[in-house]
Amino acid sequence: MFNLRQEILSLELTPIREVAAVGATVEGVIPLWFGESDRATEPHIVSAAIVGLQAGLTRYLPNQGYPPLVDALQKYLAEHYRFVERDRIVVTASGMNALMLCAQAVVRPGRNVVIVGPQWPNVAAVSRIQGAKIRTATLQCIDERWQLDLEAFLSLIDETVDAVVINSPGNPTGWVADDKTLAAILDKCRRTGAWLISDEVYSRFYYLAEHRAPSLLDHITPLDRAIVVNSFSKAWTMTGWRLGWMVVPETLLPEFCKLNEYNIAGPTSFVQAAGVAALAQDEKVRSLVEHCGKNGRLAVARLREMPGLLVPDVNGAFYSFFKVDGVEDSVAFAKRLIAQAGVGLAPGMAFGQAGEGWMRLCFGVNTETLNKALDRLEAFLRNTS
Ligand SMILES: Cc1ncc(COP(=O)(O)O)c(C=O)c1O
Repeated sequence: MFNLRQEILSLELTPIREVAAVGATVEGVIPLWFGESDRATEPHIVSAAIVGLQAGLTRYLPNQGYPPLVDALQKYLAEHYRFVERDRIVVTASGMNALMLCAQAVVRPGRNVVIVGPQWPNVAAVSRIQGAKIRTATLQCIDERWQLDLEAFLSLIDETVDAVVINSPGNPTGWVADDKTLAAILDKCRRTGAWLISDEVYSRFYYLAEHRAPSLLDHITPLDRAIVVNSFSKAWTMTGWRLGWMVVPETLLPEFCKLNEYNIAGPTSFVQAAGVAALAQDEKVRSLVEHCGKNGRLAVARLREMPGLLVPDVNGAFYSFFKVDGVEDSVAFAKRLIAQAGVGLAPGMAFGQAGEGWMRLCFGVNTETLNKALDRLEAFLRNTS
């Protein structure tokens, strides 16, 4: 009777929230269901927000973003990626908001969008809200490594596709697209006219080389139909602050400023000042990534010793996504783990049908907490196997 659009009615709230809601009612559960570190935001970032507030950063800012933050992002991109023209940088209220702005800009009703699965559900949801249909290329776990069948993936990209969205390093799998893969996908998009949106929010969480994962920024020119999305949430432990950015093609800044204006006019002003402070101390990011790398190796090694698990290598992001023998309903299994083991994991089916039977564990927490959760999981699996 309320006559909402079918695209909205057919969306489902992610089962990760359902599982977390159950977990919140049980005392002592170790929550590893969400994608966030348990570290507090660094004090110098918090101070910058407070100073910003006290200095009167409480009013509207330009739609592109707080100018000192745009400058700081340009410097950050030059240091870690490459030179990007200042007028290609747009500050957004989170990576999620950036993905939504991209979908609003390029995805049309009835058209197709290509993604790689298993995938964090929000990536497809923004295109579904636009009325598009999703084509998914599913990663295969071969010899404990995630592999993309590149030919099969490329064959999904044709003239009916408005956008291809890749997320590397990927949530939940940690799959990383190498430069050859990025170049091949870009080449196919250039030929069909599809937009290529690269979600690089885990870019710094890369364990095979220093600094960062391969990036689409290494391949595109300012004229490509390509957008690179990033966020302060993960690398600067700022999930609740809601701050991100994107790199857009040349000349499109005014269009994305309009979208920023008509969505939320731009992120919170003093939060943008905190972003400047965050970018100024890169050693904090490096220390977090080093910590996550160690935790990831620990988690994979320990999980591989437990009965009934298939545990792929982790090269990026901060999740272990593993298969549990005999589990056909990952939501029910996640609830059982809460009740019987005191551990909170995300159910694999939250990441698409291909994730059913799998579970995601976020290892971005402190090592003691991680070990405790793994002890509990191990005891549970040994008792039930
Ligand atoms: C793949 C991916 N992209 C984007 C985001 C969005 O992060 P945020 O909206 O907090 O910036 C997340 C968060 O979990 C994610 O996993």
